[in-house]
Amino acid sequence: MSQYANYALDSDSYDTTRIPIGVDTILASLDRTPIPLSQQVLLEAGCGTGNYLHALYPHVGSLAGIDFSEGMLTQARRKLGEQVGLSCGSILDMAFEGESFDGITCNQVIHHLEEGPSAADDPAAWKPCHFRNVTQFIQEAYRVLRPGGAFVINATSHEQFRDGYWWADLIPVAVARLSCRMPDLDQLKQILTTAGFDIEAVSPDLDGILQGPSYLDPQGPLSEAWRAGDSTWSLTSDAELDDARQRVTRMNAEGTMQAYLDEREKKRLAIGQTTFFCGRK
Ligand SMILES: C[S@@+](CC[C@H](N)C(=O)[O-])C[C@H]1O[C@@H](n2cnc3c(N)ncnc32)[C@H](O)[C@@H]1O
Repeated sequence: MSQYANYALDSDSYDTTRIPIGVDTILASLDRTPIPLSQQVLLEAGCGTGNYLHALYPHVGSLAGIDFSEGMLTQARRKLGEQVGLSCGSILDMAFEGESFDGITCNQVIHHLEEGPSAADDPAAWKPCHFRNVTQFIQEAYRVLRPGGAFVINATSHEQFRDGYWWADLIPVAVARLSCRMPDLDQLKQILTTAGFDIEAVSPDLDGILQGPSYLDPQGPLSEAWRAGDSTWSLTSDAELDDARQRVTRMNAEGTMQAYLDEREKKRLAIGQTTFFCGRK
């Protein structure tokens, strides 16, 4: 299993650079389940610091979260208190009975499940991934979901990795490394279908910005705390990071940064940063 992002270290600062996006999309999918939303038992797989659980809490009957990082779960417990059942464990092999949940959501997790090229590796030479861990997780989600329930997963397509984040253009090789770990949209659809899900919706989120208000900081890539807001930065080599920092410093000094951000924003607005899938059991 991949460990390229160190969530034990990043958990303290995670919430300063991440917000939950697409909560309405998740709720709309859950609301199409015959059981009233206010009575549904919902699981978030890979719940991190609990930002989605916190946003979903007022709308559903009860909530559970699972994550394998104790650091992230400590933050989630601080935010949610005793009102949400949080467990530490891998989403590839969950200690829940079959058909335990009316709905399951999983947000920005599946690019962490596979091995892939590290900052030292050439992504073009990397062997194709068969996404065995993603497949295993999706089969687990199917197992623990009740018939008729919704599985709502948000994941970033390869095109969104490249053009849904302005700074991705500064570190294209790291973006290519990350893409090796992630099924693209058609592959993900295939994995969901093979596991037994009917695909009810595939919708890019064109408005949401995962990094929240700090996203368009023109000096952002110069700050380690800002870069910690997205694990792609941990896949840059020292030379690639130096190059990105020099470009940012130069564009800010020359006064060309705003025009660059405007061009990059046009692309993000056309494709969004992430895509929501709703699979129905
Ligand atoms: C980018 S964070 C997303 C957290 C949260 N879903 C959110 O959107 O704010 C990815 C999370 O997935 C968790 N994770 C990665 N692989 C996991 C696995 N195999 N089992 C459980 N949690 C995992 C990490 O610990 C981390 O908290």
